[in-house]
Amino acid sequence: MTLNPEDHKEFLTGKHIAIGITGGIAAYKTPLLIRLLRRAGADVRVIATESALKFTTRWTLETLSENPLETEMFPEDSQAETRHISTATWADLFLIVPATANIIGKIASGISDDALTTTLCAYTGPVALAPAMNTNMYENPITKKNLGTLREVGYRIIDPDSGEMACHTFGVGRMAEPERIFEEVLEILRAPETHRNDSAAATTLVGPLAGKKVLVTAGPCREPIDSVRFISNRSSGKMGYALAEQALALGAEVTLISGPTALEKPAGVKTIRIETTQELLEKVIENIATSNILIMAAAPADFTTLEYSEQKIKKGSSPKSLNLKPTPDILKEVSKVDHSAFVVGFALESENLVENARRKLRDKKLDMIVANPAGESGAGPDSPTNRAVLIEKSGETTELSRMEKTRLAQIILEKTIALCGLGAQTT
Ligand code: CTP
Repeated sequence: MTLNPEDHKEFLTGKHIAIGITGGIAAYKTPLLIRLLRRAGADVRVIATESALKFTTRWTLETLSENPLETEMFPEDSQAETRHISTATWADLFLIVPATANIIGKIASGISDDALTTTLCAYTGPVALAPAMNTNMYENPITKKNLGTLREVGYRIIDPDSGEMACHTFGVGRMAEPERIFEEVLEILRAPETHRNDSAAATTLVGPLAGKKVLVTAGPCREPIDSVRFISNRSSGKMGYALAEQALALGAEVTLISGPTALEKPAGVKTIRIETTQELLEKVIENIATSNILIMAAAPADFTTLEYSEQKIKKGSSPKSLNLKPTPDILKEVSKVDHSAFVVGFALESENLVENARRKLRDKKLDMIVANPAGESGAGPDSPTNRAVLIEKSGETTELSRMEKTRLAQIILEKTIALCGLGAQTT
């Protein structure tokens, strides 16, 4: 990881971050996060539960945060009555790192019985939690329901990683690394209104997709020939970005996996950058199990080079031909993985639009496909407008006229919402 916290000094200096630590083995990593935030200039206050201090120490937390540790509801000092209010009004962001199944359940039920939960209850800014627990606990339907409740009111959940757990089993539930949490802190503080824990924000997040995770892919892929050259396509990423923004507006938690584009990262959307089709495949597979909806608007490369030259190939020694091999079909790979997401694909066709799209819908085992024409003016990958036919798994077809990609994104999501049984209209 090449994160240099000092690169973010200008943005983070003077930002107030409250960190709650709860009792999980991953609490040993929280001091590393505190260190990153302090090195980036943020002010940090730490509130620990009693069991958190079985996994890390007061001394470590106070030394790294350069602030007294808060642990008690009723400390024996003069500010006792207002301590939780003081930190709640001081913080620009409230993190819970790690968040155990227990704290997630307590917060989701509105319990305030210690310094951490009381302070959080009195706090109205953005909140992010980094769950860490054994895979069975993480996949327990009650934990899932509680996380859904927190998402619905605007809390950001920093998804755990998969890998070897402290109990020597393998699975999902390992806390995100401090560097990833740091990156998410930057994202949240850039668009804090998206993750607020107050009633105004909760209202904006209560849409038909509230509590749902939408994974969108966008843009082209690049397949490298040498250190400076690549094969790519004309995709601008506009369709995928419009879908990500609309899904967010409908209340979803959105992850956008984007190839190289000239577009700005949408505020409030977790954006993962990739270049090659193989990287796109890996990120989609990594995220699919936790997604409710996948919309595959990216334009992967269908071929990649057989050889790659580390050195720039000189003009004089230019190859007469490029040897290519097919890339994996990402949607087909998704269909082999255990997931329950509703999957929407696109079909770009220069002839037999509906017939070819129907075949792709079947072959790639999709729930819906958006067929659009290639080579038609006002439609296709690099145009701001598009013309599309929506084809459902049932065979139902909706023909749409040419329109802005933002409007088309709304219609695709309305149809998806209806087909998922979430039953709401946006317009
Ligand atoms: N797609 C994919 N993996 C690939 C290529 C495409 O998952 N390697 C996805 C696209 O994101 C899109 C759908 O498959 O959602 C159809 O893409 P399209 O380019 O229309 O079709 P291809 O499968 O590439 O087939 P062809 O080029 O022969 O039309």
